[in-house]
Amino acid sequence: MSRLILVTGGAGYVGSHTTIELLAAGYEVVVVDSCVNCVAGEEGKLPPSLVRVQELAKKSLVGFYRVSLTDALALAGVFEKHRVDAVVHFAALKAVGESVEKPLEYYQSNVSGTLTLLQVMREAGVHRLVYSSSATVYGAPQYLPADEQHPTGAGLTNPYGKTKYFCEQVMQDLAASDKEWRLVSLRYFNPVGAHPSGRIGEDPLGPPNNLMPFVAQVAVGKREELSVFGNDYDTPDGTGVRDYVHVVDLAEGHVMALDKAFSKSFRGYASYNLGTGRGVSVLEMIEAFCRASGKPVPYRVVGRRAGDVASVVASCSLAEEQLGWRARRDLQEMCEDAWRWQKLHPNGFRSCQ
Ligand code: UD1
Repeated sequence: MSRLILVTGGAGYVGSHTTIELLAAGYEVVVVDSCVNCVAGEEGKLPPSLVRVQELAKKSLVGFYRVSLTDALALAGVFEKHRVDAVVHFAALKAVGESVEKPLEYYQSNVSGTLTLLQVMREAGVHRLVYSSSATVYGAPQYLPADEQHPTGAGLTNPYGKTKYFCEQVMQDLAASDKEWRLVSLRYFNPVGAHPSGRIGEDPLGPPNNLMPFVAQVAVGKREELSVFGNDYDTPDGTGVRDYVHVVDLAEGHVMALDKAFSKSFRGYASYNLGTGRGVSVLEMIEAFCRASGKPVPYRVVGRRAGDVASVVASCSLAEEQLGWRARRDLQEMCEDAWRWQKLHPNGFRSCQ
């Protein structure tokens, strides 16, 4: 019998792409999502992102529950109903600026939500989890490329970043307390792109905070111009350099991390960087997107964004050695796939209800 994976936040951007890859890899999937940050769909129906996940995977989910992770009773009910073998945990709030304005909401959702999930898992005897972490735990990197040995937690400037760091600490302590646990934390660099079908992709509710979705909305004519946050950084062209990674590569990384969590030889806690190891500047990104879309992306250089650093690039050799994972899709493919999704869905999933 195939294994059953509970995916929290499975209706969201990285969650939906990962759910497809899990179904393709032969896993059964139950999704739990509160839908606070996605198009929910009609009462009693699946969110549109998951309708499409099923179409693309040609396979149905075992279940979908519109439940918040902070609702321990409802969550325990899901574990009672289904014999879950492992959890892939995405559900969290992720807007850096908003987290400064609403720290309690962020700690509640991201930290309490994770604590509740782990408690409910323990009650249910489920000890395997893959966690959606972030390169943000490295703060302003002391050296590049940042590997997993790089110190974490120092100089984190916003509650969002701290929630990811705190959850990693909780998982480490938990793994040390009981050898049953198998916990894998994946530190994403900058996830971008979309499924090559153009049927699912990133769908920010409100103005995008991140570069690629903003560029895509300018290219499609939804926004007039991009603000480039500073061109006086110590980088080749003065603009910020990041390690952008295709969301489908990232999704495959979760499947491989799950294989690790199921392997006989692994116990305890491990974290892995998921990136490409290649730095791309804001101007390079604009150029690549213009090439992929054939559309102009007007921009204006403005002041630096508070909390931004010049460069963040990953060392991904540990994921390659221990998970057998490597990012295979390049910047052009990231832009082409993001553009296909954006062009077909200028209003995201709101246009497919
Ligand atoms: C941001 C978050 C990070 C989070 C990540 C998730 C901040 C300070 N950091 O990272 O914690 O894990 O998203 O995806 O918000 N840029 C522009 N104009 C824009 C938007 C971005 O010039 O309108 C520039 C930024 O200055 C940066 C680069 O593009 O140099 C990438 O920005 P973004 O996509 O927001 O990602 P990060 O800042 O790396």
